[in-house]
This record gives sequence, structure tokens and C-alpha cells, in this order.
Amino acid sequence: MAKERENFNSSLTAVMALAGSAIGLGNIWRFPYMVGQNGGAAFIIIYLVSSVLLSLPILMSESIIGHKTGQGTFGAMDTLAPGTKWKWLGLLTIVSPLIILSYYSVVGGWSISFLLQSLSKGFHSAEQVSTMFSGLISSAWTPVIFHTFFLLFCAFVVSAGITSGIEKFNKYTMPMLFVLIVLIMVYSLNLPGASKGVEYMIKPDFSKLNGHAIASAMGQSFFSLSLGVGTILTYSSYIRKDKNILTAGLGTAGFDLLFALIAGFAIMPAVFAAGIEPGAGPGLIFETLPHIFVRMGEGAPVLVRIVAVLFFVTIVFAALTSAISMYEVGVTYLVDEKKISRRKATVLIFAGTWTLGALCSLSFGPLADFKILGQTLFNFCDLLTSNFLMTFGGLLFVIFVGWKMDKTTVRDEFTNGGRAKFNCALFDTFYFLLKYIAPVAIVVIFITNFVG
Ligand code: PHE
Repeated sequence: MAKERENFNSSLTAVMALAGSAIGLGNIWRFPYMVGQNGGAAFIIIYLVSSVLLSLPILMSESIIGHKTGQGTFGAMDTLAPGTKWKWLGLLTIVSPLIILSYYSVVGGWSISFLLQSLSKGFHSAEQVSTMFSGLISSAWTPVIFHTFFLLFCAFVVSAGITSGIEKFNKYTMPMLFVLIVLIMVYSLNLPGASKGVEYMIKPDFSKLNGHAIASAMGQSFFSLSLGVGTILTYSSYIRKDKNILTAGLGTAGFDLLFALIAGFAIMPAVFAAGIEPGAGPGLIFETLPHIFVRMGEGAPVLVRIVAVLFFVTIVFAALTSAISMYEVGVTYLVDEKKISRRKATVLIFAGTWTLGALCSLSFGPLADFKILGQTLFNFCDLLTSNFLMTFGGLLFVIFVGWKMDKTTVRDEFTNGGRAKFNCALFDTFYFLLKYIAPVAIVVIFITNFVG
């Protein structure tokens, strides 16, 4: 007789795990630079609207599938649509989070290295900072070693199981992350010249808001909520049957949004206070911010050292909680479907993602000339997943719930069998958004990603 499947102990810890998956590098690194590049508050408004009208319905559709079946991606598809091609969606959403995990762990490794740097020598000159990042990523061994540490930590938590590993880790880490990011925001808002950054975040510049910016806002909210790759589905399968998944979904989206906004108010004022261009792009955390630490450090070195350490601790732990959710998708599949032990499954996933991650890491150095469709391996994996597989998976999930599953089953799951009155009141709106609006919006994001 197989061991009984575990569950999260409470709604709150389930939300913390889901929010742990959602809150990650996307909030601290991607969101602020996207705001920077796309017109500040105008972008934030579109982001808020698309989170509610688009991402939330997609999140709920994944949650419905996972919670209804109590199974991971493959098992869930096999149960709801046995013997059909939908099983490919189940398989796709095992492969895509594992590809993301591979390169995400490389970035997680860079964060550990920057954390150690801020703990040991700190950031003191512009030259040191400029060469540090490029030196780190292009060397052969160092980033691979940090990637190994990062992934080992994930493996350690995942192998301990849902309650003793994932639930426990998120229960302590998530409140800590909120406290840290608020502390950093308070520091940043008190810097001389910070008000320009605040103004930038709250005063909309609609002239920058073109079609590309709108699709980027939708895509960002998609990435930030971990949609389309089965992580939300898998975690939802561990939520107790009698719990309300709408509450969990709203809690997850709410915390994710709040964290992104606080991160924006932590980073943008510092960017302006240091007199740096807000549209710095992807190099923001590893290149621009250390420069800021150097400039600020001339005034109050000890305080700035502490802020730098807190900042990189935040990044490392936010990345870990997200990476763990991707890891769990693969482990759930192997444990549920292939009936192997959790420990063995953890080792197998480690072997695969470590190898791909190490190759991605080397693609900044020794393997820089190895290209797939003109891209280095790291960039290829990133583009393939965030521009293609995530949106594709999300599209198929909403089509499945909106068009293939029977409406009564969906309503039943959404409203806890009609018992949750608030959910009943929202159901028609949710169903309309899910069935008609979400698929069209996803196709728009998809095409925009392709075109430019
Ligand atoms: N949502 C995570 C972030 O913001 C990234 C992620 C994507 C996590 C897909 C899980 C699955 O960083």
C-alpha cells in the first residue's frame, strides 16, 4: 500500500508556500527594471489590471486542476482526460519548470557569491564592481560551485517532504523576506534624493505605454505568479480538500503584488538617489546595485554594508523558495507516477538539473561559442521557457479548464461545492475571464514576445 499523500497543514502555510513560489527573482530583479524601462507608474497600473483580470484566472485554473485531482501535472491530466493528448500538457509542465530550475539555480548561485562578497570584502570601488560580475559569470568553476550549493540546498528541503521540508521552510522564510524588504525600503526612502524615485513609481508617464509595454506588463505578471509551468498546480494538489482555493489564490496574488511593489519602492529611490538611469535593464541587481552600494558607502560605510548583506540575503532566499517549487514538480511526478522514494526522486532531479545548469553556467565562459538558434545555452533556456513554454502551458491550462472540463465540475471546485458564498458570487466573472479573455490575452503576449 502506497504511503498516504501529504498535505499542507493549514491554509496559511499553503499560501506561504504558493507565495514562496511566486515571490522570487521576478519580483526583486525583473519587476523594478521593467518598471524602469516602461514608464514607471503607467506600467504598474497595467500590471495591476492584468494581474487581476488575466493572471488570477489562470492561477485559479491551475489550482482547480491540482486541487480537484490531488495529483501532480501528469497524473492530473491523466485523471481528468484519460487516454487523450492532454497528457502531453502534463509532461510539458514537468519539463519546463525543470529547465527554468536549471538556469534559475545558476542565477541563485551568483546571488550566493554576491552575498559572500557583501559579507567579506564588500563593494568599494566602481572598477571592482564593474569587473566583478563579468569576471564571476565568465569563469569556469566558481559559478558552477555556487550553482551546486544553491541546488543542494533546494534538494535538502525537497527531500524532507511537503510538511517537514517545503511547508516548514516557507513558513519561516516568507515572513523574514517581508521584514527584510520593508527594512531595505525604509532605508532607501530615507536617502537624500529618494523622492524622485517615489515620484517615478507613482506618477504615470503614459507616453511610454505602447503595445510592447502592455504585453511586457502582462508577461511579467505571468512570470511573477509562476504560471503555466505546473508549480501552482502541484502545490495546490497538496491543499486539503475542504480548503478554499480562491482564498489561497487571492492570498498568493496579493502577497506577490505587495512584494513587487515594496521591492520597487526599495530599489527605485536608491537608483535615483545615486543618480543612475532607471532603465538599467537586466543588469540591475548584479551591476547597478553594487555601484549604488559603492556610492552610498562613501557616506555611511557600516550601514551600507549591512543593507547590502540584507539585500543579498533577501535575493538568495526569495530565489530558493521559488526554485524549490519548480523542483517539487519533478519530484511529485516521480513519486506519484513512477512510485519511487522521495529521496531517490530528489537525487534524479538533482542530476538532471545540475547538469543542464552547469552547462548554462559555462555558456558565459568556455561554452560561449556553443549556440542554439543563435543563442547561448543560458539565453536559449531562458527565452524558450519565459517567452514560449510558460505562455504556451498557461494557454493550454485555461483552454482545458474553460473549454474541456465540464462547467459544473469547475464551479464545484471553485466554490467548494457551493458552500463558499463569496466564491459563488464571483464565479460567473471568473468563468468569463477564463474562457474568453485569458486565451486571447495570452495569444497577444505570445505574439508580442515573438515579434520583439
Ligand atoms: N515566480 C518566480 C519569480 O518571480 C519564478 C518562477 C517561475 C517560479 C516559474 C516558479 C515557476 O521569480
